[in-house]
Amino acid sequence: MRVLSGIQPSGTLHLGNYFAAMKQHIELQEDNECFYFIANYHTVTTIQDADRLRQLTQNVALGYLAMGLDPQKVNLFRQSDVPEVTELAWILACVTGKGLMDRATSYKDKIAKGLPPSMGLYCYPLLMAADILIYRSDVVPVGKDQVQHIEMTQDMAGYFNNTFREVLVRPEPRLNEAPVVPGVDGQKMSKSYGNTIDLFMAPKSAKKRIMSIKTDSTPVAEPKSPETCNVFALLKLMATPDEVAEWEQRYRAGGHGYGEVKQRLVEHYERIFGARREALADWTARPDDVEDILRTSGRRARAVAQEVMEDVRDACGIMVAK
Ligand code: ADP
Ligand code: TRP
Repeated sequence: MRVLSGIQPSGTLHLGNYFAAMKQHIELQEDNECFYFIANYHTVTTIQDADRLRQLTQNVALGYLAMGLDPQKVNLFRQSDVPEVTELAWILACVTGKGLMDRATSYKDKIAKGLPPSMGLYCYPLLMAADILIYRSDVVPVGKDQVQHIEMTQDMAGYFNNTFREVLVRPEPRLNEAPVVPGVDGQKMSKSYGNTIDLFMAPKSAKKRIMSIKTDSTPVAEPKSPETCNVFALLKLMATPDEVAEWEQRYRAGGHGYGEVKQRLVEHYERIFGARREALADWTARPDDVEDILRTSGRRARAVAQEVMEDVRDACGIMVAK
């Protein structure tokens, strides 16, 4: 199965990115042909500072490698090392009705958050569809907020194939068990809400952040509701099912404070991410090796993309000098 996904280098990686996207990307590396890219063209919609974009692009690569992505098994590359995606995005634009684009909720959400309504932001789903279709990807593992984009991609593959001929493959989305990860304030964890728990935080900062998770004011002795508790939602992502069941009982019985369960969350954070701080430092000290990985993977990805683009151009009558 060919698996593809992208992650934007638009800020520091956090638990939402990890549990919704990166974790399943890493798990899927065992039995599939994987293409994972750092979506730097997409991030020009929001970060328009060259040094910062370069730095954040590198940080996503370092984060993936530190969390256990194996560059021997997976293609990890920069979106911009396959510039053909922008060409495919144009061709898709020519067969896609404006009505479909108008229905994209992420554009509306971003405008509502105060981002300027640029054409880049509006056309974002076209570029994302090109990212997926250019590798004839079968499966796209993402967080829930991206599913509409995959459905639009399916529609665009259909428009192209119906207009010209059967060239593009219809992809399927894949969600993991954590469709929405809450932040410290209980809203969806997101860089733009300032409510993230980042990966690779120093132990003291991680503890401080976890202790600041918002909880209700139920007194210690009273029963508590696991369903509405943000700490419990995060614990569920990190603890074994047995431990989760145990905490669930303790919540319902009452007699424990939120401080205790937060402390347990700190321990889980340390177990899962603390152990990776060293790997992050190791990869950070080897920028040439990281560059090598990105380039080699980028070349492999580009070779696939160029083949598909030849079919695409041929199907619509676009000629280029060889
Ligand atoms: P942010 O909201 O912080 O800007 P991104 O939009 O860059 O995060 O998200 C990158 C990936 O991580 C996407 O696949 C998205 O679905 C997933 N993701 C991010 N935050 C969350 C969250 N809180 N819950 C579930 N998935 C998330
Ligand atoms: N839009 C995705 C996000 O914001 C990133 C992305 C870009 C992507 N192109 C993609 C994800 C292709 C999956 C497939 O998180």
